[in-house]
Parts: sequence; structure tokens; C-alpha cells
Amino acid sequence: MLVHIKDLVKDAQNGGYAIGAFNVHNLESILGVARAAVRAKSPAIIQVSEGTIKYMGLKPVTHIVSTVAKNIAAKVPIALHLDHGKSFDTVFACIDAGFTSVHIDASELPLDENIALTKRVVEIGRAKKVWVQGEVGVIVGGHGQRGKDLKIPLADLDEVVEFVKKTKVNTIAAGVGTAHGIYAEEDIKFNLLKNIKLKTKIPFVLHGASGIPDKKIKKAIKIGANIINVGTDIKVAFSKTLISNCIKNKKETDPRNLLRPTIKAVEDVVFNKMKLFGSAGKVDIGEVKT
Ligand code: 13P
Repeated sequence: MLVHIKDLVKDAQNGGYAIGAFNVHNLESILGVARAAVRAKSPAIIQVSEGTIKYMGLKPVTHIVSTVAKNIAAKVPIALHLDHGKSFDTVFACIDAGFTSVHIDASELPLDENIALTKRVVEIGRAKKVWVQGEVGVIVGGHGQRGKDLKIPLADLDEVVEFVKKTKVNTIAAGVGTAHGIYAEEDIKFNLLKNIKLKTKIPFVLHGASGIPDKKIKKAIKIGANIINVGTDIKVAFSKTLISNCIKNKKETDPRNLLRPTIKAVEDVVFNKMKLFGSAGKVDIGEVKT
């Protein structure tokens, strides 16, 4: 079922676990996340980027997520979120389309401009009861794999505190050592995360979780990461499975036979993340047939 993100986050905070925010790119990955949520008996955030909106169209992706949530994951709560909205147009279109959470990412702008822009989105979001995620201290990377020599900047604690105070965002993303993609240079600066949590007291969104060892993810959740974004691991599972299935079945002409294993590949990745984040088993839906 489709729910407001605030309900998921509140339960996660009370229960000491984190909610996975999973990037989807097509119908197969949406089905994979929904099936994983049912199998794991876990709440989930399905998030779309501007790239996915360009690829699928805002209305189609919104309707597909909503229909899949209602029909395939009827008993588990799923929230729909915009990831890294860079333009007002996208952010407001998503609010109008019924998203319960949007990320305005103006982190590349000087702090005062980031604050001004984010504040405007928060004002509109509040009026429509939509949660707004802000970002300070840009989170770098490019959803690549095994990058080298990536410089990962860290957010400035005082700037994060000032930003949260002035914008009144509902959730905060900040560079704490992770990057989008899978990079050898990634890490989590736990002290910075701890201080951000202590001083802002709002839900923290850990971006760039692909490529971070499980132990560090667990520690970040203990310290206070409430939402954990996973994108690249889903893309890689989908693409590797599709490529190998196409190579094995070069004469296949039914797209469903080529794509079917990708749904399961995404489902398995997401299922394991739900177990890692502690959200698995948190929804009481009785026996699940797999
Ligand atoms: P990864 O691609 O590293 O999993 O990061 C995803 C993300 O943070 C999306 O905002």
C-alpha cells in the first residue's frame, strides 16, 4: 500500500532500524522492490530520480508505483520519494503528482542560495503536507563502479546545523564520506554523522550506500541514519543479469523471457538490504508464499 513517508520514518526511529530508499529505473526494478518488501515483510521507500522521470515519464512512473504498491504489496507500506530534484519544476511536479516526499538538491550552490531555494520548497511542501529533504555538502560520485581517485568532500557541521535551522527541512542529507556509486575511497565519518544527529535532531538520510561494508552500515544505523539510499547495487544486479541472460539466450525473441530474471535479481539485492537495515520482519502480514 502507498503511505506517507512520515509514518515509515516514525516507526523506524521508534524501532531502531532504518528504511531503505531504493532507486528504481523501470517496471522490472519497481516489481523487484515491491516483491522484496512483501518477502521481507518490510516497509520501503521507492525513489525516482530526474533521470528515471525523463525515461518513464512522471505520470507513468507515479501510476505504476502506486498500482504495484496497491496490488503487489497491498499489506506492506511503501512511500514514493523524489531523489535529487535539481529543479523547481521537477520538485513541484512531483508534489502535484502525489509524492509524499521530495528531495531538493541545491547542494552545489553557495550555502545562502541553497538555504533560500530549499526554504521555498519547504513552504510549498508544508502547505501540501509533503516532506522535504535538503542537502548540504554535496554528495559526489556518478553511480559508476570501482572508481579510482575520487575526492569525497565532507559536509561542514556548522553549515548543516545552520541549514536545518533556517530551512526547517524534514530530513537532511549531507556528505559524510560516502559517494554515489561503488568507490574504493568511500567511508563513513561516524563522528560527523553523530554530531549532525546530535545538533539537528531530524532524520538523517545516508546517500551512497552501495559499496559500503555491511558492518559500517550497521554502525551508521546505530548512530542515527534513518533512511539509507541504495541505487548502484540495484542497477548492477539488473544489468549483469540482463546481459548474461541475453548472451545465454541470443535467439530469444520474447522480451519477458529476457527480462524476467532481472526482477528476481533486484528483489534479492533489496531483500538482503532490508535484512541489513533491520526493517525486515517489521510488518505483520502473516505467512508469505515465495
Ligand atoms: P548508491 O548508488 O551509491 O547506492 O547511492 C544511491 C543514492 O544515494 C541515491 O540518492
